[in-house]
Amino acid sequence: VKIPFSLDELELGNYPHYMLKEIYEQPVAVQRTYSGRIGPTHKSANLLDIKITLPPQLNSIVFLACGTSYYASQIGKYIIERETHIPVRCEYASEFLTSARLFNRQDLVIAISQSGETADTREALLIAKRKGIEVAGLVNVVGSQIARIAGQGMYLHCGAEIGVASTKAFACQVAALIIFMLYLKKHLSSIRVSGDITPAHTPLLEPSPSFPSPQPNQPSSSRLFDPPVTKDVNGQPLEESIVRVCSALRDLPVLMQHVLSNTTTMSTIDEIVAFMKDRKSAIFLGRGIGYPVALEGALKMKEISYIHAEGYPAGEVKHGPIALIDEDMPVFFIVSASDSVVLTKIVNNMEEISTRGGKIITVTDCEPTNSDEKVQAQLKRVRSISAYTISVPCSDLCCSPILFTIPLQLIAYRIAVEKGINPDRPRNLAKSVTVE
Ligand code: G6P
Repeated sequence: VKIPFSLDELELGNYPHYMLKEIYEQPVAVQRTYSGRIGPTHKSANLLDIKITLPPQLNSIVFLACGTSYYASQIGKYIIERETHIPVRCEYASEFLTSARLFNRQDLVIAISQSGETADTREALLIAKRKGIEVAGLVNVVGSQIARIAGQGMYLHCGAEIGVASTKAFACQVAALIIFMLYLKKHLSSIRVSGDITPAHTPLLEPSPSFPSPQPNQPSSSRLFDPPVTKDVNGQPLEESIVRVCSALRDLPVLMQHVLSNTTTMSTIDEIVAFMKDRKSAIFLGRGIGYPVALEGALKMKEISYIHAEGYPAGEVKHGPIALIDEDMPVFFIVSASDSVVLTKIVNNMEEISTRGGKIITVTDCEPTNSDEKVQAQLKRVRSISAYTISVPCSDLCCSPILFTIPLQLIAYRIAVEKGINPDRPRNLAKSVTVE
């Protein structure tokens, strides 16, 4: 029997808990996910081991997952829709029974699972397969049930994950989803995608003078990218955009290492832990790609630290959760500086919380490096209204969720330890849930 990881990985070594060990293993784990798949010179994505059959006419990609894997799928949705304009839906595997009827052979269903044994994900995948839908898997454990049922897809190769709360598998799932997005980009010229594919550089925010009247001879609602796609949806030549993402992925482990060894970050985390450990609840907010990061941050806080935490889209807070805000409510914000439209809006949301006394804890990127004066001014504002700010390095937007998540994992871990909770064995939870 081939063991797909080294036996040393099962040893704790000098770490007090597997969760901490796995948080620190993330840079190497991500490297393992991309090695052999993107070229050594930043120039190419060879993706040779990836064979995912795409339906000749593609309606949408549907991700099936549970828990942390579900939040990784939401990041994948954001990345794929932004970079390829192929519509993506994320379905909780346990809810797929009711939504399966919406999908057919023009969809591609992909199960995402670390263990490859989660019963809900396995059953949902079987439903899709029985309907004759093309299925695939993004799985860590080689030869697991979900990998076998899927029959095609990608292994994460992130090594054994033992801590109940998923950390390094999450980072590798996001890396694998970025690689899958590159795979889709490489196949853009041969996929027929249903629906209108508006180039992303069309200014969506400019007010249109009136609703366009329907054109009698509009082309059919599905179209092949014809002539062959040479530019991506952001107007960047396709080859260049692939190189941009490959290069960001290759640089990512060093940036992750930087977060893990940054002494300023660690002392800010100490302060946040001291502030948070006796709190009963917290809210996690993000917009755009920061939203699923907020959901994952809230999940880590609940499952490991036993603090009630809710993740919410920052713009939705004024429709209800804002009633919870007072001086006792910690509010975590994920603030991505790479997306200037989102940045302005989230700063407004932060001000709404700040004026109501909420204690703001911010994780943001690009702080010292951003040369745009308007962005710098916004980031200054972010820092001044935050009680605590953690700054992570700047990366391509696709890779930023992995960097944002590391401090959130560390905060949840440290609070658990402070409270005397064993983070490797949180109550009522299992590493792999084999019942529906
Ligand atoms: C359990 C684990 C989570 C995990 C989820 C999905 O709830 O405690 O950490 O995210 O299952 O597991 P999977 O193996 O399918 O990714």
